[in-house]
Amino acid sequence: MNQTLSIAVDNDGIALLTIDVQGRPMNVVTPDFMEELTAAIQQISTSPAIKGAVITSAKADFMAGADLKWLLASHEKITDAKSAMAFAWPLNELFRKLETCGKPIAAAINGTALGGGLELALACHYRVAADNQTARIGLPEVLVGLLPGAGGTQRLPRLIGIHDALMIIIEGTHLSVQEALAKKIFHKVVPQDQLIRVAREWILDGGIGVQPWDTKGFKVPGGAGGMDPRSAQLFMGGTALVSKRTQHNYPAPIAIMSAVYEGTQVPIETGLKIESRYLSTLLLSPVSRNMIRTMFVNKGAAEKGARRPADVPVRKVSTVGILGAGMMGASIAYISARAGMQVKLLDSTIEKAEKGKQYSEKLVAKDVERGRSSAAKGAELLSRIQTVSGYADLTGCDLVVEAVFEDRTIKADVTRQAEAVIPSTAIFASNTSTLPITSLAEASARPANFIGVHFFSPAEKMPLVEIIVGKQSSAETLACAIDYVIQLRKTPIVVNDSRGFYTSRVFATFTNEGMTLVGEGVSPALIENVARQAGMPVGPLAVLDEVTLELAYHVTEQTRRDLGASYKDASGWPVLRKMMEVLKRPGKRYGHGFYDYPADARKSLWAGLSEHFPLAKAQPEAEEVRKRLLYIQALETARCVEERVLTNPIDGDLGSILGWGFPPWTGGTLSFIDTVGIKDFVAECKQMAELYGPRFAPSAWLEARAAIGQNFY
Ligand code: NAI
Repeated sequence: MNQTLSIAVDNDGIALLTIDVQGRPMNVVTPDFMEELTAAIQQISTSPAIKGAVITSAKADFMAGADLKWLLASHEKITDAKSAMAFAWPLNELFRKLETCGKPIAAAINGTALGGGLELALACHYRVAADNQTARIGLPEVLVGLLPGAGGTQRLPRLIGIHDALMIIIEGTHLSVQEALAKKIFHKVVPQDQLIRVAREWILDGGIGVQPWDTKGFKVPGGAGGMDPRSAQLFMGGTALVSKRTQHNYPAPIAIMSAVYEGTQVPIETGLKIESRYLSTLLLSPVSRNMIRTMFVNKGAAEKGARRPADVPVRKVSTVGILGAGMMGASIAYISARAGMQVKLLDSTIEKAEKGKQYSEKLVAKDVERGRSSAAKGAELLSRIQTVSGYADLTGCDLVVEAVFEDRTIKADVTRQAEAVIPSTAIFASNTSTLPITSLAEASARPANFIGVHFFSPAEKMPLVEIIVGKQSSAETLACAIDYVIQLRKTPIVVNDSRGFYTSRVFATFTNEGMTLVGEGVSPALIENVARQAGMPVGPLAVLDEVTLELAYHVTEQTRRDLGASYKDASGWPVLRKMMEVLKRPGKRYGHGFYDYPADARKSLWAGLSEHFPLAKAQPEAEEVRKRLLYIQALETARCVEERVLTNPIDGDLGSILGWGFPPWTGGTLSFIDTVGIKDFVAECKQMAELYGPRFAPSAWLEARAAIGQNFY
């Protein structure tokens, strides 16, 4: 006892159950908690001295959901329906025991109550919450590919009606305490210091220990079932909407709708069983495991510095110099100042530097206008950005980010000028998107302090930063670059040097495959729709228009020059060349690319495409196109592992989802291979190599891994 909760009975016969899961900043559901709650319920229900109980928390917040690390570890043991149900049912059963223990139970919700925490409160007969402005209330399980499996899909609709419950459960939205009160999830909201008193009074005033749904004649508010026109209409529309939004890549929202639809037509006991069965199906699908692993456990660890060399002390960046105040420099200046750093922004003229600062001014004005920041805070942020006219002003910088033109000579020049004035311990970080870091470091007098820190555009929106370790970058430099990214509250991944590093290199295979398909006469609409159905945020042709075909063309030309005789044209090159040289459609910025961009209407695929790239008589199956678009990215990621550009599958997975939008349901490019099964993946790649070309051919290294079934995780 006492690992997770304590129980104290007062003179009035009220038991105060205080949850305090040891060693955790937040109360989470763990096996210990379940065991101790079982004992507490037994004591409450059988002890004649206990009239009722108040459940609260000793921490700042009430309780969050299941411990995700425990959940992830449990996934290994869930192999069939029986083992899935053995995992899913006990907590559900336990909360049912609580609400049927025969004594009145009040939840005194002192702060955030999410997932299992809110489900615990819903299994109490009375819910009073503290007027806590920062508390978040909700059932966010859908965000990790699961459903609220401790009664959430059954009690919430019975309490507030199916429509409102589904909005909360399917969206995974967080409500404030006042919103939860307005939705009648809570009975009362009181000042924090009165919380326990009000909960006790409810019991002493004769609070009843029976749930509404356990009383005779109970009806779900707003109706339930297929025969009730209100509910029937809701489910018809809702199913279509969910299908459109998830494209059936995410099983959880449909499982939630099914559990609510079926479960609300039967007594709660049966409803809870139905819920656990649907949770079991989700536990058996790889989607939730992949999402939890990459997007929660590993993302969280990366943001705490999992990849930084452990023996190097943390180094806080106070002053950062930014060279080049163009699109990227301006946006990096903003996020650095937002994170509290002093910024020195330099361009070739002071006017250009000022223009770069205007970017921050616009963002700050927008935030103030929308109430996301105060005028005073905005002014303070802007005062941290100092535009400078010469290198002498860069003395005292802990770190310099270079974001000048993508030109070796210019980059070499600014490196030398900055290094002449910055402290010898300062880090020099290049934001180059294509030039190998080791070669840029040749211009540096201190190559150990030189590193790549690759932001994505626009930096204030994009969550990922790709750190590129050059041949001579030191462990201290890597640690400092990671510390800087953590200060910016972004997710760092660490990769080794390579042409296009990791993210740009793999992303290019997606756009190349899109252009190759166009060249083969596959309908552009099919290509674009299938990519989006697979879960990519936009199709390959639309995204090429966005980044411009011009950029892809220049990168190709540069690579051709750099590689000389060993350069081989990519399969999409004929289409790219024709679009640029003959058809002169360089992308969205110019008003025309694969799409037309009329000023007064939505973009649409350019009608002329079929004239210049005639459609093939036989069009491929959608599944074939989908496979080509996803497999080529996963295969290139595997090549990055083989070449040690990636030294860790976590960087590959995080980078693919956060960097260029590889579908989150996969868990990332390498989780995708593991999920397909490496043997099948390699066999299918071989088939595709025969059909579509050698870019699909797996290497001997990958074939050897497949032969012994060696996963990336
Ligand atoms: P940009 O053309 O918008 O800005 C470059 C800025 O550098 C201009 O303001 C220019 O006046 C300034 N500049 C040029 N020579 C200079 C010198 N000698 N001293 C001081 N300032 C000088 O270019 P953008 O897009 O901001 O790119 C900058 C760097 O970031 C490039 O290396 C690019 O490859 C990289 N990058 C670009 C991304 C993008 O989406 N645009 C994404 C990630 C990296």
